[in-house]
Amino acid sequence: MKRSHGARAISMVTAYDEPSARIADAAGVDVILVGDSVGNVVLGREDTLSVTMEEMVHHTKAVATARPAALVVADLPWLSYHVSREETIVNAAALIRAGADAVKLEGGFQRVEVIEAIIDAEIPVMGHLGLTPQSVRAMGGFKVQGKSVEAAEHLLASVKALETAGCFAIVLEGVPEVLGTELTRACLVPTIGIGAGPNTDGQVLVFHDLLGLSSTKSPKFVRQYANLAEIATQALRAYVADVQGGNFPTEAESYGASQALSDHLGN
Ligand code: KIV
Repeated sequence: MKRSHGARAISMVTAYDEPSARIADAAGVDVILVGDSVGNVVLGREDTLSVTMEEMVHHTKAVATARPAALVVADLPWLSYHVSREETIVNAAALIRAGADAVKLEGGFQRVEVIEAIIDAEIPVMGHLGLTPQSVRAMGGFKVQGKSVEAAEHLLASVKALETAGCFAIVLEGVPEVLGTELTRACLVPTIGIGAGPNTDGQVLVFHDLLGLSSTKSPKFVRQYANLAEIATQALRAYVADVQGGNFPTEAESYGASQALSDHLGN
């Protein structure tokens, strides 16, 4: 699905449980990403580094129960593919057994060997380059990547290395628009951008960011399509008022009983 070959853009969104996967699928997204952003977005943590394989398996299983038509990609969390080839394959397989169709991992040249190993085990791999959140400590913060000519050239070489290793698509996160365009032009497999400008082959956003459910200020590249936090708060305020005012539940919202039981209980 390269736009340069006439394809339409690919839509990808994160989901972490059955309801969010069901909603995303009903909306017609092409790809559901069970992102390790579950750490910040759902589990209230500062970054993704504490997310474990057990947590990713748990959330991937929840998403898979929605039986989405969309392709389900699950993130390999930090340190699940950095130790050994054997451990990497076992971890990638655990996500497939939990219901994912493919796995995603972060990084360039240093990941080529494990990407090849996972693909060798018949598991499709999505790459992730640019601002890779699992490298937040090494990068010194969540910073736009590829700003210098040298860094941009390194990313261009990295995208070709991931393509050659066999990645079926590559997420490009947090790079200047011109570089997002050039990486997409240079890459034979689809690129999916987040903060990489409008010319990548697809776009991905975090479910909670685009629906206005996030607790933190969203980055500049997020377009918020709804304010569900506001709508949910209003609905819950109405519920609290109804309970406190004795207006919930009504008879229609209660179970009836036989006359004999009512008489016996004196009602
Ligand atoms: O974990 C995630 O949500 C991601 C996307 C931001 C691409 O990796």
